[in-house]
Amino acid sequence: MNLIQWIDFKILGDDRGRLVALEMDNAVPFKIKRVYYIYGTAENVGRGYHAHKELLQVAICVSGRCRMIMDDGVTREEVWLDSPSKGLWIDRMVWHEMHDFSADCVLLVLASDRYDEADYIRRHEDFLAELIR
Ligand code: TYD
Repeated sequence: MNLIQWIDFKILGDDRGRLVALEMDNAVPFKIKRVYYIYGTAENVGRGYHAHKELLQVAICVSGRCRMIMDDGVTREEVWLDSPSKGLWIDRMVWHEMHDFSADCVLLVLASDRYDEADYIRRHEDFLAELIR
């Protein structure tokens, strides 16, 4: 599996600037039940460090940039998120970490379900154990 999968959004641009519209089942291949965003991240802070059992997500850096590490238990890949017109697919059972947030970074995340702590795997060794179950 290729861990880094982008969704390219259509940019509705004109001489006033740009606009991106995201519709469930269209630009985003699931019903969006939750939107959250991370901003004002302090220097040298890493976030994430978890995988989800079922949740599907698309992460979009609408301002600034940050570095995402994706890990499926076999391969670990990293990528910079720095474009408001591209979404990074975060599949279920993919360990992910975000690092190196720029001061102006706003990371918007579309999620297929509401917040549920029971869906989180927050220890990497538990994540690896779950993969071989
Ligand atoms: P957390 O998932 O730990 O952030 P990250 O792993 O991305 O660094 O979330 C931080 C806190 O916010 C935690 O107490 C759970 C809460 N939270 C919600 O209540 N709803 C949400 O949608 C999210 C993502 C987090």
